[in-house]
Amino acid sequence: MEERTIEGRDEVGQHAEACARARCAQVQCNEQGGNVMNRPDGGEPTASQKIYSVWWENGRLTFLDQTRLPEEVVREEQTSAEQVWDSIKRLKVRGAPAIGIAGAYGLYLGARGLKELPVERLLARVEEIAAYLDGARPTAVNLSWALKRMVRRAKGSGEHGDETPAILEHLREEAEAIHREDMELCRGIGEAGLPLIREGAGVLTHCNAGALATSILGTATAPLYLAHEKGVSFRVYADETRPLLQGARLTAWELMEAGVDVTLICDDMAASLMASGRVDLVIVGTDRVAANGDVANKIGTLGVALLARHYHIPFYVACPSTTVDLATPSGEQIPIEERDPEEVRFFGARRTGPEGVKVWNPAFDVTPHELVTGIITERGILGPPYERSLRSHP
Ligand code: MRU
Repeated sequence: MEERTIEGRDEVGQHAEACARARCAQVQCNEQGGNVMNRPDGGEPTASQKIYSVWWENGRLTFLDQTRLPEEVVREEQTSAEQVWDSIKRLKVRGAPAIGIAGAYGLYLGARGLKELPVERLLARVEEIAAYLDGARPTAVNLSWALKRMVRRAKGSGEHGDETPAILEHLREEAEAIHREDMELCRGIGEAGLPLIREGAGVLTHCNAGALATSILGTATAPLYLAHEKGVSFRVYADETRPLLQGARLTAWELMEAGVDVTLICDDMAASLMASGRVDLVIVGTDRVAANGDVANKIGTLGVALLARHYHIPFYVACPSTTVDLATPSGEQIPIEERDPEEVRFFGARRTGPEGVKVWNPAFDVTPHELVTGIITERGILGPPYERSLRSHP
């Protein structure tokens, strides 16, 4: 993996220029991929740990630009809350846990220059920036969860009598803690789900709930990476995931980078694949789990769950507890993001639908809890009734 980093600019408006510079390859890179090869905890990374979607080092935030994968591996520096908002909106950084981490750093970036503000005005501004960042994408609860946590930390610090510089320090610490904790959560999911990955198994996944979507290891992929490290031999099938091809561009790419046996299929091949007997279990990620166990995930997940039920294939959902939203009673209340119709009228750069054709483009769907065999979290595999199991393992 050859990786490049482009330096960020203060204004979102200067972004295009930065991207153009990246295309000219006027960037820093080294054979080992620069920063991404260093584990934040100082340990040696394994093959599956070399991909960091969000990187924070010496006060610099960079994202691996996921819109450019798999053709280009480019890190882009983020220097403002506006730029982070834009990166979340455009899916440069994406996946529920990753946008939570990104939002937390984005809030810190938006606040860190406000050293001269009196505490009361700083706290008001922190709330404003949090509300602004929260508006980037509505479905993944991790974004609002992380931003609320950041605001709470700032307010708590203010109530404790801290001055503005100390509050800003605490905001930085909180973002770093959210980032670090996600690494532990992903590892916990991996350990909990590991027994599901048996020798010779065929595992189907949808979208990208991998390392790219989190701090490290992913959620749906965490058991796969740990099984691979232990030498278990298994196959992964990645749905391509129209319209934006996260399965093809991202899941297939990162699993190949780690040396995991992965086969790419078009979304409409999943039924035949299951009918052929090659799928032993499905594992997907989720953007929000409602209190009754309904799960929102990338559009198309519901279809996969229905097929799995038809073919008597276990359907698992993997997520950290930060994706569980007990305040949302059922899937009906989960806000579903609708995205630009052009994403459907085009296949990548090529127009495939008539100009102006009506389009429906929900980014997510809701799989009812009845179709979910188990929810793999860092605390273990939760089973139905989810009303109870989610509350006892919040
Ligand atoms: O629109 P995306 O690419 O952000 O959608 C991501 C997903 O649906 C993932 O499966 C989900 O966020 C879980 S990530 C561990």
